[in-house]
Amino acid sequence: MKAAVCTKYGPPDIIKITEMAKPIPKKNQISIKIHAGSVTASDTIIRGFKVAGIYKVLMGLAIGFYRPRKSILGMVFAGEVESIGQDVSGFQIGDRVFWFDRFGFGSDAEYKCIAADSCVTKFTSSVTYEQAASIPFGGLLALHYLKKSGVVKGQKILIYGASGAIGTAAVQLARHMGAEVTGVCGTGNMELVKSLGADEVIDYTKENFLDSGVLYDVIFNAVGKKKVELHPGSALKQKGKHITVDDGAPKLSAKELSYLRDLMEKGALSAVIDRCYPLEQIADAHKYVDGGHKKGNVILTIG
Ligand SMILES: NC(=O)c1ccc[n+]([C@@H]2O[C@H](COP(=O)([O-])OP(=O)(O)OC[C@H]3O[C@@H](n4cnc5c(N)ncnc54)[C@H](OP(=O)(O)O)[C@@H]3O)[C@@H](O)[C@H]2O)c1
Repeated sequence: MKAAVCTKYGPPDIIKITEMAKPIPKKNQISIKIHAGSVTASDTIIRGFKVAGIYKVLMGLAIGFYRPRKSILGMVFAGEVESIGQDVSGFQIGDRVFWFDRFGFGSDAEYKCIAADSCVTKFTSSVTYEQAASIPFGGLLALHYLKKSGVVKGQKILIYGASGAIGTAAVQLARHMGAEVTGVCGTGNMELVKSLGADEVIDYTKENFLDSGVLYDVIFNAVGKKKVELHPGSALKQKGKHITVDDGAPKLSAKELSYLRDLMEKGALSAVIDRCYPLEQIADAHKYVDGGHKKGNVILTIG
């Protein structure tokens, strides 16, 4: 099978398309023919080993200090079940499934075997593989942080970085929860963020939300502390919460992925796809994501 292989950390061109042996499922695994993947901000952080301080040690211990221990990158796919281990129930050959594992690796390839009880769930043909692949990363992380924030119906939430993978999902999920949403993004993304259901949109290149005098129950920094330190105390209500996408280590579950699938199939959660690249052009996809200004998701088309 074809796979995108990264044998050391470095710039995008380090990734090479290579012929590899097709994996065989163990008893508890399903083998997937992958049709679409996603190049996420996390993939580019891993590829470039772009962390500092104590995180270098933690990441080195988790995935390898000098090169990734697992050489095929990729943590998200949408594909179809191609074969099934003998102990597996609940899946059938031909099922359309999507999957996310922050440390799973291996989805930037034509095939991958995964544990049947991992963060994987089925979806129907009402959704394309590309659309499905755009949901797990931003959707599960946004859901985790929104739940952590405790935001409820009628509350005001400000989502900073509303046009990225996590931000576009957070805007839609917060609206679905009944919150009043203000999205913050750059000039070119105002219409997109409005179209996702934001009640208000602020252009951070022209306006500082701290100057508006509006107070929020929750302020969610979906850009991350490394790029933007918000210090939003003066814009928070008493007992208001400030959360950022870098806080803690989100737990991922198939149950929550199924919840997102249901929203997507009902039309309550839209796929936001900026660009699609064939697997062979994965280095170009990484270069684009490295820029830090993608709109929603960058998708890999495979097979
Ligand atoms: N906790 C975790 O497990 C975890 C996992 C993955 C990622 N993360 C964090 O989440 C962050 C976001 O991920 P993502 O996939 O949503 O990223 P993304 O799709 O690349 O989006 C980043 C967004 O940030 C905005 N942005 C960039 N520079 C900005 C600036 N200087 N001021 C204001 N906004 C700016 C961009 O909006 P405009 O283009 O409109 O400027 C873009 O929409 C990552 O960088 C990482 O730190 C955390």
